Amino acid sequence: MEQALQTLRASMLECRECAALVKCRSRVVPGDGEIPAEVMFVGIAPGRFGGDLTGVPFSGDRSGILLRRMLARAHIDDVFITNLVRCNPRDERGRNRDPLAGEIGNCRRHLEAEIAIVKPRVIACLGAMAWRHIGGVNSNAPFDPVHPSIQRRAGAIIYPMYHPGYVIRGAYAERRYIRDFLRLRRYLDASHNVDLNQL
Ligand code: URA
Repeated sequence: MEQALQTLRASMLECRECAALVKCRSRVVPGDGEIPAEVMFVGIAPGRFGGDLTGVPFSGDRSGILLRRMLARAHIDDVFITNLVRCNPRDERGRNRDPLAGEIGNCRRHLEAEIAIVKPRVIACLGAMAWRHIGGVNSNAPFDPVHPSIQRRAGAIIYPMYHPGYVIRGAYAERRYIRDFLRLRRYLDASHNVDLNQL
């Protein structure tokens, strides 16, 4: 498994598929964490003050610090953390921008390859963008992390959560955010020995 991930990482590091991202990224930021992992967290793209500098998703910036604090508080540690897109997208003024649909599409094969290697029981989508893209055929399902409706895809449960940036912007209270992580912890405990197809 380690070897498979190393091979995948090497191919990602050489990726030059998105011309705009090749120009603005400092580095490619593959997913990082346990293999296999109980939960895979999927964000949007590495931030310019975080993964783009450190090479590790959700590290070094405010979103990363908040996410990792929530995981520690909820004792969720068997995790792999990645993004829809592995390069930091910037606008013409050098600020973070959302990745374009084409960029997300180009990076999809990297995400699918990570999922195949990491084999998470739960894929936690951080934000509506990840929810819509990973939910696939079920993408019309409402994004509601407070009353999560769980989606299934082959071998994994898709679980909606707010993006830490949403909390940092003040759109959602941190005391609620920790409750969401504790709920995910309870969900993981309750579903531990359950056949996912029976859920
Ligand atoms: N850092 C990441 O790695 N992803 C995000 O979506 C935001 C910050």
